Amino acid sequence: MSDVLIKVNNISKSYSQGDIEIKVLSNFSLTINRGDFFAITGPSGSGKTTLLNILGLIDNFESGNILYFNNDISNFNEVKKDNLRLQHLGFVYQSNNLFDDFNITENVALPLLLQGYSKKEAYENSKEMLNSFGLSNRFKHTPKDLSGGEQQRVAIARALINNPDIVIADEPTGNLDHDTSNNVFDYLMKYSQNKSCAIVMATHNLSLASLANKKLEIGTKN
Ligand SMILES: Nc1ncnc2c1ncn2[C@@H]1O[C@H](COP(=O)(O)OP(=O)(O)OP(=O)(O)O)[C@@H](O)[C@H]1O
Ligand SMILES: [Mg+2]
Repeated sequence: MSDVLIKVNNISKSYSQGDIEIKVLSNFSLTINRGDFFAITGPSGSGKTTLLNILGLIDNFESGNILYFNNDISNFNEVKKDNLRLQHLGFVYQSNNLFDDFNITENVALPLLLQGYSKKEAYENSKEMLNSFGLSNRFKHTPKDLSGGEQQRVAIARALINNPDIVIADEPTGNLDHDTSNNVFDYLMKYSQNKSCAIVMATHNLSLASLANKKLEIGTKN
């Protein structure tokens, strides 16, 4: 299988707000290969989240194209995009986006349930994953009863449960203290080393960014 996972060719993205146009990405290109751990840095407002949302097929763009596994995603309908997200992408956000009405075993199992796994199998896999994240004593906890660092570990467990080829992480350590940030980063690093996947992480933490094997600094604020 090819090592190229995503190829971004000359994309541009702007937002209009009333009569103001905010140009965020201009003829931007990027190739993401298996084994890449990209750290994306840049000032606030430089377009990191915008880029990650485009890579995650959550946001659109005006010109250029993006190939996922050699397929131009502009030809994909919403169902195909949903399937691609479910089967190949894992997301981690700064605010962890966990569901407070569900315990963490259920939260982590969710991507598997959506893919048609039985409850039994999904929960077993979820517990195994939570165990590897040091959360075996917390299976029945809801996210609000966990510390910020524990919640973020659950969010990462959920992002990785379906063995994604690409993990998109938007400031995954943004809300965490120094030690917990390093810890969360280590999980992502280990995942990227053990699997033939890619991680794309936006961060303001320059010391963590320096540990990534690919670094990309984007734009300056308009
Ligand atoms: N939906 C939107 N409508 C209008 N402008 C937007 C929208 N989303 C983002 N922007 C603008 O686009 C620019 C890039 O935003 P983005 O969130 O990608 O920055 P960022 O690099 O992630 O910043 P931060 O480090 O603060 O998270 C900002 O100037 C922002 O105001
Ligand atoms: Mg952002």
